This record gives sequence, C-alpha cells and structure tokens, in this order.
Amino acid sequence: MMKDKLALAINEQIQAEFQSAYLYLAMSAWCAQANLPGCAHWLRLQWQEETMHATKLFDFVHSRGGAAHLKALDEPKSTYTSLVSVFESVREHEIYITSRINALYELAVNEKDYPLQIILQWYINEQVEEEATVMEIIERLKMVGGDGPSIYLFDRELATRTLQSTTSGQG
Ligand SMILES: [Fe+2]
Ligand SMILES: [Fe+2]
Repeated sequence: MMKDKLALAINEQIQAEFQSAYLYLAMSAWCAQANLPGCAHWLRLQWQEETMHATKLFDFVHSRGGAAHLKALDEPKSTYTSLVSVFESVREHEIYITSRINALYELAVNEKDYPLQIILQWYINEQVEEEATVMEIIERLKMVGGDGPSIYLFDRELATRTLQSTTSGQG
C-alpha cells in the first residue's frame, strides 16, 4: 500500500500533466487561428502526449493500492504575440515540469518507494527529450525570423509529426 504522502504528490503531478495538456491544446487553438495548421497539429499531439503522461501516473497510483483524485484545472493562457513566443512558453513550462518531476523523484528516494523511482525514471528521460526538442524548434524559428515562405515550410514540416516518433516507445 502506497503512503498517503506519496499518493498526494502523485495526484498533484497528474494534475500538472493534465494542466500541460490543456495549455498545449490552447496553444494549438491559437496556431489554428493564425493559419498555422502544422504547428496546431504538433501541439495537439503534445496535448495527447501529456494526457498519456497523466494517465500513466493515474494507472500507477491504482496499481499500488492508492487512489487517484482529479483536481481542477486552470484556464490556460490563450493569447500569444508570435509563434516563437508560443514555443518559448512551451519551453518555460517544460522546465517547470522537469523541476516537479525531479522533486517527486527526490521524495520517492527519501520515502524509499522503489517502484515510484523506476516509473519516474521514464519521466526524467521524457523531460530531457522534450526540453531538447522544443529548444531545437525555438532555435530554428529564430533563424527563420519573420520570413513568410520559411514559416510556411516550417509549419509544413511540423505537420508531419506522428505520435509514434516522439515517444520513447515505453509509454
Ligand atoms: Fe508531461
Ligand atoms: Fe511535457
């Protein structure tokens, strides 16, 4: 049976993952309105990934004899000044999530919960990957600048993202 303290912390992380999903779906809406269907698609897959991150922890709590309690979500930010600011916000948010995952891992170590440590290692890897991917996107967008034809090509490239190619195959 999982300790209450740990179940509570995991429930807070489930909320944070769903909040991430909600934020990226709002960004997807912004891109769709800005005639950037590729970016909208990319962020919609991000929404799907974050939902998977949340449900993976949801299942884990139950498999360990705990209970998942879904908390309220905040209304996500929905207006942005530019495409680069959208991805800069993704990066900022992912850095925040990384700090949360690290703190949760530290708690799992202190509480000697070995199964939680193992599942969190997947999240630690995932954060490394997500931060690197979004950083690469920002760098490329900065190179492109305000050049319309280049943004058009960039958007078409993001349209090719599939869920399979962006997950590590474990979750
Ligand atoms: Fe996540
Ligand atoms: Fe993420």
